[in-house]
Amino acid sequence: MIRFSAPAKIHLLGEHAVVYGKPAIISATNLRLTLTLKQSAAKTKQTKGVQKIQKAIERAITKKYKVKIPPYQIEIDSQFPLGSGLGGSAAISATLTGALLKLLKVKADLKEIYEIALQGERAIHGNPSGSDLAAVTYGGTLWFRKETPELKVFSQITLTSPVALMLLDSGKPEESTGEMIAKVAKLNASLKRNIFDQLELLAKSLATDSRDIKQIFKEANNWLVKLGVVSKNTQKLISLIEKSGGAAKITGAGGWKRGSGMILALGPQTEGREPHGTVYHPNSEKLEAFKPIKIKLNQEGLRAEK
Ligand code: PMV
Repeated sequence: MIRFSAPAKIHLLGEHAVVYGKPAIISATNLRLTLTLKQSAAKTKQTKGVQKIQKAIERAITKKYKVKIPPYQIEIDSQFPLGSGLGGSAAISATLTGALLKLLKVKADLKEIYEIALQGERAIHGNPSGSDLAAVTYGGTLWFRKETPELKVFSQITLTSPVALMLLDSGKPEESTGEMIAKVAKLNASLKRNIFDQLELLAKSLATDSRDIKQIFKEANNWLVKLGVVSKNTQKLISLIEKSGGAAKITGAGGWKRGSGMILALGPQTEGREPHGTVYHPNSEKLEAFKPIKIKLNQEGLRAEK
């Protein structure tokens, strides 16, 4: 049995903008996905999405290392929902690559794993920025920029003040990440440019001083609404959080028709505690319905498990 795990990621800022060469700030959380692989001729039934990832990664490994992959089966166990903006496909791609290379006794560093796993992400999303995969592979909190399809530049950063965040479930998006990227691509070029320029400024503000995160989240959310990636229902939930003194935004591709995936929420400022606590009042009962989960940022990336 070979077992690898990888974290859920959140985009603190820069989702969608990062596809267009703007920076994103992404962090690895404490919620993890574990993939177990064993050599076996009997296949387990996987979803179409996972099968696509498997094919693309197997092809990339076979091409690069000139090896034959024996029959194997996998099991995926995740502490976070897949297809909800938390980088599930990146976590599957990274863990599967790690596990297959171990099965084949190929020594590979994280950079090589990243490059192969990216083929899995591409098979699913078409034109991903690679930011999800960087966060789940390397862990920590990254400032990430895709300069060209081949050149991604990223660096670990430390937020200047601690932030306590929660995830609330706005509902699984009907659209895939690829579809949301395609929806954004259809927008007017100068509108897009303006929104992405503003999101870049916000990313720079957050990287410089995270004490203003609440205001930064509010502004980022307004731009994401203009981008058409936040559904009406999700906007209602975000307003509820804002009315209770907090702030919130989507944390991935979002969704337009129904849900927009997990949203990232900051509680109101709480006296004598960290700058942004996770205690919601006076509307906490209403928010409980969205199953809030407290998360930790800046966690470990891909790792082999016993
Ligand atoms: O797949 P998600 O929902 O984690 O979103 C990824 C973030 C995007 O910027 C929308 C796409 C990308 O490739 O960066």
